[in-house]
Amino acid sequence: MFTTLKAFFALFLSKFKRQKHSSPDLISPKPQHIAVIMDGNGRWANSQGMSRVAGHKRGVEAVKNLIKGCLHHEIPYLSIFAFSSENWNRPESEVKALMELLMTALKNQTKKLDENGVRLNLIGDLSKFDPKIQQLAQQAMRDTAHNDKLIFNVAINYGGRWDVTEAAKRIAQKVVDGELSVEQIGESTISQELSTADQPDPDLLIRTSGEYRISNFMLWQAAYAEFYFTDLLWPEFDEEAFTQALIKFTSRDRRFGNAIDNVPNSKP
Ligand code: IPE
Ligand code: IPE
Ligand code: MG
Repeated sequence: MFTTLKAFFALFLSKFKRQKHSSPDLISPKPQHIAVIMDGNGRWANSQGMSRVAGHKRGVEAVKNLIKGCLHHEIPYLSIFAFSSENWNRPESEVKALMELLMTALKNQTKKLDENGVRLNLIGDLSKFDPKIQQLAQQAMRDTAHNDKLIFNVAINYGGRWDVTEAAKRIAQKVVDGELSVEQIGESTISQELSTADQPDPDLLIRTSGEYRISNFMLWQAAYAEFYFTDLLWPEFDEEAFTQALIKFTSRDRRFGNAIDNVPNSKP
């Protein structure tokens, strides 16, 4: 209760003082890993009489704010869903425009990410992309590999089922090669073979645009994530919206299957 009040006070203060973000100390507990399904670029563009591509461009601006928010609040892991394995179903012209946006972002934003201590980690089946994009992606990952303020996973051609399938194949290969026995396979074996190996599971999963589904994002990793849904469209997701999501997180009871009476500080 106290932490929630503190968090509301933080939001109040941030509005009152017109600060971009509330004080990081007032948000507690903080998520360690935030996953975001950025949805609604197309609807936002339609509402503004703009093209869907213009909506995606505005979406990139919202991502910049999100990164700033994570750095400000010292949240060490951020994952965004930028292009799903199902998004190839979109009209060719939109897919092409999204690829160009991705390429531009890799070319223009990597330096800034590096300056801010952000490590870029592209996850997904990159082999389906144009070799130019693959090269830029590898370069951007190498250039930022020494950073540790924020691990920034960008999921492209990513699907949760793909992630688990690939992990299963690698594990099967290890068994075939005699490196691992079937009895040794546990949940952590699978977690360690996913694209998010060595990272904590997301504890907060945000989806914008009023849709209430996971759309094949981080299926395994989101097992115990707190879900936060907002009707805001992705380009509208600003600093205040981010703070609201954090505040909501502070008020959640995380019981992990335990009885409510057994959870310290639970909110009935
Ligand atoms: C999310 O916005 C961005 C991507 C999936 C690339 P959408 O493009 O899905 O926007 P809506 O859902 O059509 O409004
Ligand atoms: C999910 O959004 C994928 C990304 C945000 C990249 P979609 O707009 O593609 O999801 P659905 O099709 O509405 O489930
Ligand atoms: Mg959508």
